Order: sequence, then C-alpha cells, then structure tokens
Amino acid sequence: MPLILGIETSCDETSAAVVADGTRILSNVISSQAVHKDFGGVVPELAARAHVRNLLPVVRAALRGAGASLEDVDAIAVTAGPGLVGALLVGVSFAKSVAFARGLPLLAVHHIEAHLFATRLLDPPAALDFLALVVSGGHTALIQVDGPRRYRLLGETIDDAAGEAFDKVAKLVGLPYPGGAEVDRLARRGDPGAFDLPRSRLAAGSLDFSFSGLKTAVKYLLRDRPELIEPSRLPDLLASFQAAAVDVLVEKTMAAARRSGKRRVALVGGVAANTSLRERLAAAAARERIELVVPPPVLCTDNAAMVAAVGDHLLGIGANASLDLTPQAILPLPTERSASDS
Ligand code: KG4
Ligand code: ZN
Repeated sequence: MPLILGIETSCDETSAAVVADGTRILSNVISSQAVHKDFGGVVPELAARAHVRNLLPVVRAALRGAGASLEDVDAIAVTAGPGLVGALLVGVSFAKSVAFARGLPLLAVHHIEAHLFATRLLDPPAALDFLALVVSGGHTALIQVDGPRRYRLLGETIDDAAGEAFDKVAKLVGLPYPGGAEVDRLARRGDPGAFDLPRSRLAAGSLDFSFSGLKTAVKYLLRDRPELIEPSRLPDLLASFQAAAVDVLVEKTMAAARRSGKRRVALVGGVAANTSLRERLAAAAARERIELVVPPPVLCTDNAAMVAAVGDHLLGIGANASLDLTPQAILPLPTERSASDS
C-alpha cells in the first residue's frame, strides 16, 4: 500500500496531501492565498513568497491529519508544471530536499494530468476512460483520456481560460478576485436571456475555445450602459455572460464526447464548481445517455491529493524524476494530436 506525499504550489493554492494506493485520501490540506485580492489577479512574486511561508505548516498538517510521519511515506510527488515558475519552484525545491534527505523516490507531476486523476479519488474511483473538460483559471481543454498517460488533446482555448473570463468579468463589475464563484451566485438571480452576448465557436467543427471576445463584449456593453452595474441590473448582465460561456462549453464538450466515442464525460478544474455548467452539462449528457463524472469542488480546485494520485501511478511504472528536476511554466501533456484535428 504505497503512501504518497503530494505537494502542489503551481498557482495560488499551497497544498499537501497524503494518499494511499493512489485512491484513498488520508489528508488533503489546502491553504488559499488571500494576498492577491487587492490586485485583481495572482501576483506571481507574492504567490511564491506566500508558498515559502505556508508550505512547511501545510505539509506538517497533512502528515498529522494522515496520522503519518515522513518515515511512513514511500515517495514524494510534486507538481513540476505547467504553472507560475516561481511558485512551482517552491514546491519542487522542497520536494527535492525531502527526497534527497530521506532517500525517497521523487515524482514529477503534470498539473493537468493531476486534474484528470482527481476522478481516481472518488468512491469508487473512476476508470481513466472518458472525455474530460478541464476548466479552470489557467486552462480550458477537452482531453480524450484512454488510460493513464494516454491522452489526446481535442481542443483548448486560444486566448483566455474560462475561469479567467469569469474573473475578468467579475473585475469589470467591481467584484474581488477571484470572482468566478460570486458571478455564479449573482447570476442565479438574473435572466440569462437579458442580453445577447457572442458565442465564439471558431471554425466549423473546431473544438477549440475563445473567451476574450465575450469578455470584451461585456466591457463595451458596460461602457455604453454603465447603469447595468447597479445591483438591480447586475444579475441579468452576469447571467447573460454566464449563459454565453456555458453554452459553448457544453456544446463543445458534447461534440468532443461524440467524436471520441466515449460514453463518460468528466468535468474537472475550478470552474467545475459552476452551478449552471454542472446543471447544463448534466442535462445534455443525460439526453445522450452519457455518464457525467464531477468530483466534489475540493477535488476540482487545485489540491495536492490529485498530485499524489498521479504520483502513485508514476511510482508504479518506475517513472521517477531525478534530483536535477526543474519546474516548467509551459509543459505539454503527453498527447497524440494528429494533423487532421488542427
Ligand atoms: O482550478 P482552480 O482552483 O485554479 C486554477 O488552476 O486556475 O480554478 C480557479 C478558477 C478561478 O478562475 C475561479 O474564479 C473559478 O475557478 N471558479 C468559478 C467558480 N468557482 C471557482 N468559476 C465559475 N463559477 C464558479 N462557481
Ligand atoms: Zn488547476
């Protein structure tokens, strides 16, 4: 029963977790950084400094929560990219030090692969055989998952990530960062048909996304009609924005499911917490008798349990990293994207 200590510091969550067998969470401690609120986005230098302050207490809490000590741990898994390089460096340096001092295997984890492995932490664990929509503040991608390490990128955003669009629109209307959850909350009271905002579908048959035009449309609408920001009008504006974003996400996810032939869709990443996206995707999947897998929000947002779950797989196949591991801001998934898809 391998016990993996997972470490995640790729963005603004400092997290450590202990996972047994790649599927059983013994602890999953997440410390979200509040230092970025006043800046309307994550400030990389502040994120790295906050990781330095938080990481040791978070790791101690994770070990304590699991009733384990470093002696019990079989390997240490760390997110090595993609992400903010200064933030990643804190987790990677820490993991390397512990691996060296304790003689433990070091496992380098791809952050998006970790989001896919969040489905392994469900009870019962989902088989890695689905079409995934990975949708977060940094990523929006449709990935055909045929098994561990067998991924095919079917589509991704060509500009803003979906969560980024939510956060930018939240900022336009004066909500604190990150505003995605608050947009969701306010939109529930609004009319999604109040304003006709653009749905960017790109070329016919394309599974790529573009959200920057939608954000700009909201910006121009607010410039021409500043009264829409008033509390009585705001829910209509936000509901209309959310409907435009969710329409395209649901449409392309279902198209990707059909193209991949998968009968199961997994929704992962921070934006998977969005009520409208969950409801609309659930309804669309049900219509086509496709199973929808959505991990609970704590496993959808950045966390170290999903990192440890990948680590367990890497340990099993002997894919250990060396102690000269360096984090990468940009790191492609091991995918097979054929020319006919692009
Ligand atoms: O996965 P995550 O924790 O971090 C990244 O890897 O980016 O995702 C955070 C993103 C933020 O953009 C946040 O605004 C968005 O997820 N988010 C939401 C909701 N809850 C979080 N977006 C829309 N509706 C929500 N309920
Ligand atoms: Zn993430």
